[in-house]
Amino acid sequence: MLKNPLLLVAFIFFFLGSSAWSQQLPKNPLEGRIVFEKEGCLSCHAVNGTGGTTGPDFGKQIFSGDNYDLLSEMWNHSEKMLLVMARTRTKRPSFTGQDFRELGEFLYFIRYLGQPGNISAGKRLFAGKECIQCHSVGGAVPGKIALDSLKIYVSPVHLAQAMWNHSNLMRRRGVRRGIKLPTFSDNEFADLTAYIRAASSLKSEERIYSYPGSPTLGEKLFKEKGCYYCHVEKPVGPNLDRINTNESVTRIAGIMWNHSGKMEAAMKTMKQPYPSFSGNEMADLISYLYFRGTPKTAGSAKLGEQLFKQKGCESCHEAGNRFNAPTVDRLGPFHDKDDFLAALWNHAPRMEELLLAKGKKPPVLMPNEVKSLYLFVDAKTKAGN
Ligand code: HEC
Ligand code: HEC
Ligand code: HEC
Ligand code: HEC
Repeated sequence: MLKNPLLLVAFIFFFLGSSAWSQQLPKNPLEGRIVFEKEGCLSCHAVNGTGGTTGPDFGKQIFSGDNYDLLSEMWNHSEKMLLVMARTRTKRPSFTGQDFRELGEFLYFIRYLGQPGNISAGKRLFAGKECIQCHSVGGAVPGKIALDSLKIYVSPVHLAQAMWNHSNLMRRRGVRRGIKLPTFSDNEFADLTAYIRAASSLKSEERIYSYPGSPTLGEKLFKEKGCYYCHVEKPVGPNLDRINTNESVTRIAGIMWNHSGKMEAAMKTMKQPYPSFSGNEMADLISYLYFRGTPKTAGSAKLGEQLFKQKGCESCHEAGNRFNAPTVDRLGPFHDKDDFLAALWNHAPRMEELLLAKGKKPPVLMPNEVKSLYLFVDAKTKAGN
């Protein structure tokens, strides 16, 4: 069992400092870590190595989806999870709607944080990506631009932002010296950041964290910086709905950097100013790209009506049933989808018990089926109330 759950908090704050999230989108995706700890998930599931090892690590086996996905995952794995819980005498988790919403936001957010950087991988990249041709770190080298002062910036987004802002100068020098500027993938921005911070000759212990970014501020920047112009208004760039931005902050920073060359060229032709970023702007923009990239589960009330029969819900939830299960129009009412998902999850033990008595197993529920059931029940309860 985990001795120090606060480690998880320390891990997250290592990345972010503290949080300032906007109102409409998740107010604060870190809230859900409280539910994660309170309901005992952390004693079996780790986040990037911090936590229990009985279940999969949410940092490695990255969960990415909406709450229909989460419920489906938990529901379909519940048999094994429950066995372990019984063996370890762990209380079965139960949720309010708000708990479940926050839990989902938190788990979704872990993907955004990505993995911590690796210093030795960063050292290899510094040479392999030709940075070393023009830059030094760890001590001044004549004719090279020192990057030591970057040590104080903990977040890889700062490195991406600084490079973005200087990309014009970098590219020009590259052309002069016959060096092609590198592209980025995976966790490379984080690795380079880790290396620069470790190798820097700067004595300062000051640390500047990046905030997780505000998607609503990011949405504004998307217009102000001309992204909207090229990607929506006069679409010279691709439709961003077709680009996968459900990636870590570091990867999205890489996607942005990789396209800066072509973008710069397009901007020159169109006589648009090259956008530069200050403060937390790059993080804001990236968090906007991340949240607009949330995968959306499909579903329909019509399919839900069929599923309510096929999945055996109706066998209990019919008029005059002997289990005292409410008929479908008397379920709820549910404030929102998370309220429904929590109620569905909380009643699983009772349902399983009744089904087991009949020698049956609980139905498997895929995300689109969960959503369809919700849409069906919600329509029925609204009509019934
Ligand atoms: C007593 C240990 C235990 C606790 C407590 C626990 N889990 Fe699990 N969980 C497991 C195990 C074991 C699996 C793997 C089951 C399998 O492979 O079928 C699992 C699987 C999962 C999965 C599916 C992951 C995947 O993609 O394979 C999700 C999602 C999940 N758990 C969420 C949670 C959440 C959220 C909580 C807290 C509310 C929680 N679990 C609490 C043991 C636990
Ligand atoms: C061809 C030469 C060249 C290469 C290769 C190159 N840079 Fe640069 N870099 C520059 C120039 C020129 C500047 C602008 C310096 C200035 O503003 O005077 C710069 C600026 C920067 C800055 C901004 C510095 C600051 O103080 O804000 C960062 C960060 C940076 N580079 C990182 C990198 C990294 C990381 C790599 C390797 C992936 C790299 N550069 C590769 C030439 C290069
Ligand atoms: C002058 C026009 C222009 C502007 C302004 C512009 N883009 Fe682009 N963008 C493009 C073009 C052209 C491409 C396709 C080039 C390519 O395939 O690399 C592109 C591609 C992209 C991609 C996909 C990259 C990939 O890997 O497929 C993303 C993400 C993106 N832009 C985001 C942005 C954001 C965010 C902004 C605002 C800071 C922005 N763009 C501003 C023209 C523009
Ligand atoms: C074996 C019988 C049984 C089956 C099968 C069953 N339920 Fe239930 N359900 C109940 C009972 C009994 C209750 C009353 C509350 C309780 O005992 O937990 C209930 C309660 C609920 C609630 C919570 C009601 C509230 O107002 O909080 C929801 C939501 C629900 N069921 C949905 C479903 C769905 C969707 C299915 C099909 C996937 C299903 N049930 C299958 C027996 C069953």
